[in-house]
Amino acid sequence: MRLIGFPLPSLFTIVISVIGRTEPLRYYAEKIGLNIGVAIKETYITGNNQTHNNLVRTEFNTIVCENAMKAQNIAPAQNSYNFSAADQVVNFALQNQMKVRGHTLVWYNQNPSWLSGGSRQSLLSNMKYHIEKVMGHYKGKFYHWDVVNEAFADEGGGYRSCPWYTIIGEDYIDSAFVYARRADPGCKLFLNDYNNSYINDKSTAIYNKVKKMLENGIPVHGVGFQCHERTSKMTPELFGRIKENFDRFAALGLEIAITEIDIRTESGSNAKVQAEVYATFLRVGMSMPKFTTFMIWGVRDQDSWTGAEQNALIFDNSFRPKPAYDSLLAVLKYPTSLLPVDRRAHYLTQLGDLVFNPANNTVRVNDPLLNRPAVLEMFDLRGARMAKVTLRANYPLPLSSMKTAPGTAVIKAPGTTMRRISVVGR
Ligand code: XIL
Repeated sequence: MRLIGFPLPSLFTIVISVIGRTEPLRYYAEKIGLNIGVAIKETYITGNNQTHNNLVRTEFNTIVCENAMKAQNIAPAQNSYNFSAADQVVNFALQNQMKVRGHTLVWYNQNPSWLSGGSRQSLLSNMKYHIEKVMGHYKGKFYHWDVVNEAFADEGGGYRSCPWYTIIGEDYIDSAFVYARRADPGCKLFLNDYNNSYINDKSTAIYNKVKKMLENGIPVHGVGFQCHERTSKMTPELFGRIKENFDRFAALGLEIAITEIDIRTESGSNAKVQAEVYATFLRVGMSMPKFTTFMIWGVRDQDSWTGAEQNALIFDNSFRPKPAYDSLLAVLKYPTSLLPVDRRAHYLTQLGDLVFNPANNTVRVNDPLLNRPAVLEMFDLRGARMAKVTLRANYPLPLSSMKTAPGTAVIKAPGTTMRRISVVGR
């Protein structure tokens, strides 16, 4: 089974997507044990917002409150905590079998004045009180908490200047995690930040801090990568740049989560580039066993804190899925070649698929439905057909017969779904 006439390639990855009937993001995420989530305002699920409400619980299996759990809203005064908005979201999540990420306990922003003023001693005791109060209220219900948010300076690799840091010192972070551990021992505790997707001064400062915390026995379990990004970040190197950074955190034994992704489409850039950036972040995550969570910071473009004109999210203002949605769905749906071994095994037992074998660079049609000859067609990036071949189920197709340049192959099995494989050259 060879496609005659193509030079030997060196292929390092395959992205497989399906054209045909689709289930929501949540359906595929659950097959591979991934938490796919969204940040919501409580108004999305109350009142007459049925469209928002339906979309959120259909497409996602994880939720975070965009603002309702921030101290300013939940703790307007020390003796009057107001959990009502956040409780509505948590109840909605639990009713719909969704996980909850808590966001956030200790931050420089959106604080009531009582919480973040005073001496070192009073700041520490306010922090402890707040953590115990909020985590205690939700004890046992959340799987993650962002214990400390945005503690690092944008430039220079230091800490962000804020009352927690300037009055207490860098150990405010350690104290927060120790208090949090006691308040809900079953919850994974995260240090969350932005501009930390790649190796730079800021992500290195975060890396050094979590490494030191682990050495000192401070209970930190994961690092949150907010991933508020832009389409201009899309380059052929993007996957590798993210991965080399995420990998060093995973090597410390930490869980990796993309906690707040949105991709601004800068002037002139289009939805397709945005889709590639979203998919690239997800693909990196899916290639790592320590990756558990992919959360999008809002539902529709106009819901985004970045402003409607940025078109930063995966649904348009009429709740229609954008190309970014399709690209995420494709990665979730046919992730075989991208998954670490343990997830791949899980996935294959449930679906059956085209299986990429990196050892001998072949693709095998491993699908009970394809128990008859299938037609494989390859197209170049402009859509021109380069080859057509018939292959039998369970017969390994050597990728060495495909072109080195990126291209697309389509598998059509009569009477079954049509499958498209994008082949990315090295
Ligand atoms: C943003 C919300 O989306 C806005 O509605 C609010 O006005 C400000 O905060 N990093 C974070 C989030 O950790 O809490 C921020 O959310 C976005 C940046």
